[in-house]
Amino acid sequence: MAVERGTEIAPAKGRLGVLLVGLGAVSTTFIAGVEAVKRGLAEPIGSLTQMGTIRLGKRTENRVPKINEFVPLAALTDLVFGAWDIFEDSAYDAAMHAGVLEKELLSQLKASLQKIKPMKAVFDQHYVKRLNGTNVKEGKNKLDLAQQLIAEIAEFKRKNRCDRLVMVWAASTEIFMKPHAVHRSLESFERAMRDNHRAIAPSMIYAYAALKSGVPFANGAPNLTVDVPAMMKLAEANNVPVCGKDFKTGQTLMKTILAPGLKSRMLGLHGWYSTNILGNRDGEVLDDPESFKTKEESKLSVLEYILQPEVYPELYKDFSHVVRINYYPPRGDNKEGWDNIDIFGWLGYPMQIKIDFLCRDSILAAPIVLDLALFLDLAQRVGMRGVQEWLSFYFKSPMTAPTLYPEHDIFIQLMKLKNTLRHLRGEDLITHLGLEYYD
Ligand SMILES: NC(=O)c1ccc[n+]([C@@H]2O[C@H](COP(=O)([O-])OP(=O)(O)OC[C@H]3O[C@@H](n4cnc5c(N)ncnc54)[C@H](O)[C@@H]3O)[C@@H](O)[C@H]2O)c1
Repeated sequence: MAVERGTEIAPAKGRLGVLLVGLGAVSTTFIAGVEAVKRGLAEPIGSLTQMGTIRLGKRTENRVPKINEFVPLAALTDLVFGAWDIFEDSAYDAAMHAGVLEKELLSQLKASLQKIKPMKAVFDQHYVKRLNGTNVKEGKNKLDLAQQLIAEIAEFKRKNRCDRLVMVWAASTEIFMKPHAVHRSLESFERAMRDNHRAIAPSMIYAYAALKSGVPFANGAPNLTVDVPAMMKLAEANNVPVCGKDFKTGQTLMKTILAPGLKSRMLGLHGWYSTNILGNRDGEVLDDPESFKTKEESKLSVLEYILQPEVYPELYKDFSHVVRINYYPPRGDNKEGWDNIDIFGWLGYPMQIKIDFLCRDSILAAPIVLDLALFLDLAQRVGMRGVQEWLSFYFKSPMTAPTLYPEHDIFIQLMKLKNTLRHLRGEDLITHLGLEYYD
């Protein structure tokens, strides 16, 4: 939704509750990270809201404030965390289990992390085959489960004296689902929830509960979730901003950094082969072909959109793109992603690029969760609703308005994000077209 330039922004007063669906590797790395930063034990590396700056006006003006001084964002000290999970482990136990952060750091944060105990999840093994937990809600149908969530959200807000809330899906990837007729309108969606229809996945029940409660929702996994007309209508009607899907980390982050560069130099592509080994719970869930299919679709779309084979058939027609994920337990969260990229240059001469990215998935994802929570809260205070395309920067499969194609180029995404902030504060947009040199 368009907002006016220099619009009034309600201040970020009071506490912001961050409700996390799934208290696994990403969520606990995020929460523990915020607690560590608050105590001065570490720096919020990778977070645009905490470390990023924004240039304003002409280059000669030397106006480059930090983003969190330019727009009013919730302070880290005002964040309160809540979560749902199918396992009863506290954030401390879950973080220990995830094995991302060092025990020594976690032990310094133990008191705060132990207080975060997950609420009972809405879960059905049909949608995530490899998991089975006991901390699960019971209800007479899916609408009843949503109503339980709505009551819990209100209770969380009251008990923790929060002024505002946001919800982030950081739970396991569900099986691949296509939009269904019941997703078309809110009426048919609610009827389907009452009828326990298969087309209503647990993630949709959380998203419905968030939107009904006026709580902004971000989808960190590639699930369909909020990306259906019924949910879009609900977001519009209740003035709620939403964004998704699938945090852009690891291999896809590299792809969206490299591919625009290759294209900018008009270098061609014969093929891009990507494979990963990872051994965390996410890897275990993705070992199931139905969950992997959801992830694969999300990872594959990136190159087509960036390279535009229809515009540059000589360079990008029929390139081969393969993505594999292999579950390999010894590796834990320390994923390894290999890429073999077959490119060609002048006169069609072939060349190869090899990438071996020894990354840590949750270390890359945690600052994304933080930024999304703060920016979604900002969007709501500004009065923005529906899909927040300016947050595409954070996603592998950015949600868009139905008639638009997603923008995957990370540099265009960043420009769009910063220009949105400039617009909100009534500053000139920076297009890099100005002839400041001659001014
Ligand atoms: N780590 C990354 O870099 C990254 C990048 C993009 C997307 N993601 C996605 O983020 C999600 C979280 O990743 P992770 O590494 O933390 O995984 P994880 O397996 O460590 O954590 C997910 C948690 O969600 C819980 N869960 C599953 N279904 C649930 C439900 N219906 N309700 C409540 N809890 C539920 C699981 O019990 C688990 O504890 C996954 O979907 C993953 O694909 C992660």
